Amino acid sequence: MKRDFLTLHNWSSEELKKLIATAIKLKKENKDNVKHHLLEGKKLAMIFEKPSTRTRVSFEVGMYELGGYPLYLSANDIQLNRGESIKDTARTLSRYVDGIMIRTKGHNIIEELAEHASIPVINGLTDDFHPCQVMADVQTIYEYTGTYDVKVAFIGDGNNMAQSWLFGAAKFGMDISVASPEGYECKADIVKAAAAEAKVTGAKIEMVRNPLEAVENADIVITDTWASMGQESEKEARKKIFADYQVNRALMDATGKKSYFMHCMPAYIGQEVSEEIYESDISIIWDEAENRLHAQKAVMLKVMG
Ligand code: CP
Ligand code: NVA
Repeated sequence: MKRDFLTLHNWSSEELKKLIATAIKLKKENKDNVKHHLLEGKKLAMIFEKPSTRTRVSFEVGMYELGGYPLYLSANDIQLNRGESIKDTARTLSRYVDGIMIRTKGHNIIEELAEHASIPVINGLTDDFHPCQVMADVQTIYEYTGTYDVKVAFIGDGNNMAQSWLFGAAKFGMDISVASPEGYECKADIVKAAAAEAKVTGAKIEMVRNPLEAVENADIVITDTWASMGQESEKEARKKIFADYQVNRALMDATGKKSYFMHCMPAYIGQEVSEEIYESDISIIWDEAENRLHAQKAVMLKVMG
């Protein structure tokens, strides 16, 4: 049976931890210049309905390093944008390639694609989830701390990153506290599903209003843009709404311990994060960005290998 990677929800903690171990091994092999073409001859279609730097390049380079072939398909250039259905796109691509990565809008779109594709589908970001980013984040945290026994604070919009992180924390047994302004919280059904998962691993999931409360005792402080792709028209309004949610020196000091700063990027410096913290030595964002490559190679090997 094919296996999709749409959210972390349908993957067990053991499977996800194995993926992290594989990612760490692949990273070491890359540094040692060990080459293996475990996806020799495999083709990955990459559909982008939104822009991307990291996701596109890490999937493309990852596929190349594994001996496979990535095809970049801008949604603007394929028939999808002229009204061909997701269902027919799925059935057509399934006859040519061995896997599909898609960055799209509604999460229902990727679910429909996965339903009608006979090949694995990987989520490269939807409005609700960005699971590949969380895998890279978890890998980075594990590399820096040597444990999954950490507390994560997510400050800001209850967006695709925050929601993916709820599942990430639940699955890896990390405690998480999310601080968002009123009206910008994570969706209630997603919080509920993650809380049910958290019971299995003993992770604590907490949704709060006050960023100072969220960061208390946090080992990792994460934020993301205040206006995600597709919300450009709300940018100015959101700057005001999120003004008290900047990750800066005062907030990092409020963890009460040595903590790291993370951000999936792209970042808007001076908004969700101060320049001082962004450029500081507690900012581990470049390793986080690099780990997209290794974590996704592990995912591709698992579903396409
Ligand atoms: N973090 C992330 O997904 O970056 P891109 O939008 O550049 O792919
Ligand atoms: N929340 C952001 C993440 C970008 C990688 C967005 O969806 O635009």
